[in-house]
Amino acid sequence: MCIATLLPIIRCTLCYRHLIPAHTLAWTVCRTMSSSSSTPAFPPQEGDAETNEELYGQFTELASSWPCSGGLSRAKLLYRHEKGWYSTLPPMVGAMVADARFAARPSDIVVATMPKSGTTWMKALLYSTVHRREHAPGGPGHPFNSLGPHDCVRHLEYQLYTRNRVPDLDGLPDPRLLATHVPLASLPRSVAASGCRIVYVCRDPKDTLVSTWSFVNKFRAEDGLEPIPVEAAAGYFCDGVSASGPYWDHVLGYWRAHLANPERVLFFRYEEMSRDPAAHVRRLAEFVGRPFSAEEEEDGAVDAVVKLCSFEHMTGLEATKSGKTELVLGAVENSSFFRRGLVGDWENHLSPETARRIDAITEAKFRGFGLSV
Ligand code: PPS
Repeated sequence: MCIATLLPIIRCTLCYRHLIPAHTLAWTVCRTMSSSSSTPAFPPQEGDAETNEELYGQFTELASSWPCSGGLSRAKLLYRHEKGWYSTLPPMVGAMVADARFAARPSDIVVATMPKSGTTWMKALLYSTVHRREHAPGGPGHPFNSLGPHDCVRHLEYQLYTRNRVPDLDGLPDPRLLATHVPLASLPRSVAASGCRIVYVCRDPKDTLVSTWSFVNKFRAEDGLEPIPVEAAAGYFCDGVSASGPYWDHVLGYWRAHLANPERVLFFRYEEMSRDPAAHVRRLAEFVGRPFSAEEEEDGAVDAVVKLCSFEHMTGLEATKSGKTELVLGAVENSSFFRRGLVGDWENHLSPETARRIDAITEAKFRGFGLSV
């Protein structure tokens, strides 16, 4: 479902091409990328967070009343949001608080992904591309030496709107780089209204499943829980009962938004990024309004970004090897976000029948939308 089908819409009064919800009477400037060259706060700091137990309590009570079931998850239960997607309770509540309180700006750039689809990689690429003038990708003092990509580009519902906090993000300089795993239908309404840009990454569902399954079982082991067998994990995944699932609705939502508004929603595939990362870095830079100059091209700036963010380089960094990221459920070792980083690792884990079942669902769900993964 695309943003335009969710809300009454009007055309942007400036360019008459971008769609914005009519219910926000805010005058919205589409795609006016800030040319501000102000030095970004590093590490990016939100201002003092107000705490609002009452707001979180209300949303927790509401979400707790929705259907829930066991699923492909570290926690025992996944709840079904009224808009049809599944999540454990804390990030679902965080997404609802972000919807109520987050004030997007036209200059914001939001990384949107299904979990385990290339989020960490895209956060690294986006941060290093946008901030390449202040932080040279090959330079010794690059932020990635001390912070993981998840602390450079923070998730709304897993990092910012958590633990009763309502952060003050107003002080962050443009462009604010943020991330979310929520489906398009549950993006904070100000994101839809602001005209800000969204960078989406999708991945072969079979690799997304295997990556999710490995991640979940790692934490289940730490929690003293039984591992979920891969075939059971595949069953949950196909039924949509995994974080931010169903996978197919998630991908299709952003794909349709991309088709409707390619200047606002960039759509990348993990497999294509792996095949030609440099071409994707160029497209990303253009999309965010910071294309590489001829001089930068000559100096090898694109390759420097690719190399900096490569799986091999990132896994060797001290910030990956010994750093942690504070998420809604506690601190997570940065190394957990890097496993194999391969295309097609599913072949080592899924039976041919399971792979065929997933491919058949993909084929049926995406048929007629011009989308293949
Ligand atoms: S999360 O938890 O949602 O943020 O996870 P996400 O980053 O989306 O997905 C993790 C998978 O991405 C792989 N990864 C990378 N691949 C290529 N290049 C880079 N730099 C990179 N960083 C992380 C990571 O290894 C996970 O995939 P699998 O298949 O499990 O290895």
